[in-house]
Amino acid sequence: MANTTEKVLIIGAGGQIGIELTENLSKIYGHDNVIPSDLKDNTVYKTNPYEKLDALDKTALFDIVKKHNITQVYHLAAMLSATGEQNPMFAWKLNMESLFHVLDLAKEKHIKQIYWPSSIAVFGPTTPQQNTPQYTVMEPSTIYGISKQAGERWCEWYFKKFNVDVRSLRYPGLIGWKSAPGGGTTDYAVHIFHEALKKQTYECFLSEETALPMMHMEDAIRATIELMHSPAEKIKIRGSYNLAGISFTPKQIADEIKKHIPNFTITYKSDFRQAIADSWPKSINDENAKADWAWKEKYDLPKLVTNMLENLVNYKF
Ligand code: NAD
Ligand code: SER
Repeated sequence: MANTTEKVLIIGAGGQIGIELTENLSKIYGHDNVIPSDLKDNTVYKTNPYEKLDALDKTALFDIVKKHNITQVYHLAAMLSATGEQNPMFAWKLNMESLFHVLDLAKEKHIKQIYWPSSIAVFGPTTPQQNTPQYTVMEPSTIYGISKQAGERWCEWYFKKFNVDVRSLRYPGLIGWKSAPGGGTTDYAVHIFHEALKKQTYECFLSEETALPMMHMEDAIRATIELMHSPAEKIKIRGSYNLAGISFTPKQIADEIKKHIPNFTITYKSDFRQAIADSWPKSINDENAKADWAWKEKYDLPKLVTNMLENLVNYKF
């Protein structure tokens, strides 16, 4: 159990990961000690002290850190792969400048610890696509991927130069039932469940054989918290750790859904996200995370599909 003197700020807490991370961190630290913040007005949080914050506003960020005596920041605000390609210059500005603001808070000793997520998008078409290793060719072809790769290098640099305790995971596509995805290439793997339950049919924007690494949100949140709670000497990688999760194609997830909803049908109509997906790994090697801080996932594809359908049957966004 973590020290209850911690005060945690979550930036981008209104998004897919933020909603679930805030809930889980509140169970550990108490609702009063976990401060969700977002650019959006608060429609989610009733018991946590909420702050409306633009992560690009360094002064406002500093004021909130001081007001709440924040010790840790989970910095989630970013523009994801698909929306980033529609607005590349702003994606670069948001993803990079907001990271610098948070890294500087730790460099200047206002906070003790940072979590910042990276992504499988750091890899590109020249990366080996099967069992992609931690250290390999990385030539990302999206602005999102370029910003995450640069962000990883900056995190490591702040750690080496200023001893900033920053930790990071390269999440695969995340799949959860408590929150909606926010503009990524892997979003189909969440939408498919909603459409399967509502209409028993889904038109997928990726082709049927497009394999991508994915992960149940519960595993991703647990990995995040386990990484942040590991002793500093165990964290050997200060760029970002590979996380494998489960690799599957749209056809494979559709076949699994059909075991629960036999009349479910899927059609395929690729759009611009196909090229992004084709540039990413099909499966990931996460032996460094397993060796350094004992990472182990719980969900396989059948378990993930059962869990999503069981929970979404009664869920309204
Ligand atoms: P999301 O789009 O669902 O949520 C992002 C949140 O950030 C939104 O609520 C948005 O309102 C907020 N935001 C945007 N601009 C902001 C600003 N200027 N100031 C404050 N808040 C702002 O994204 P997510 O899926 O929750 O992803 C969170 C992080 O995890 C991102 O860094 C993303 O790159 C990373 N990640 C996500 C996935 C995934 O599958 N969801 C995979 C890999 C990495
Ligand atoms: N799920 C994310 C995306 O598709 C991966 O970082 O953008």
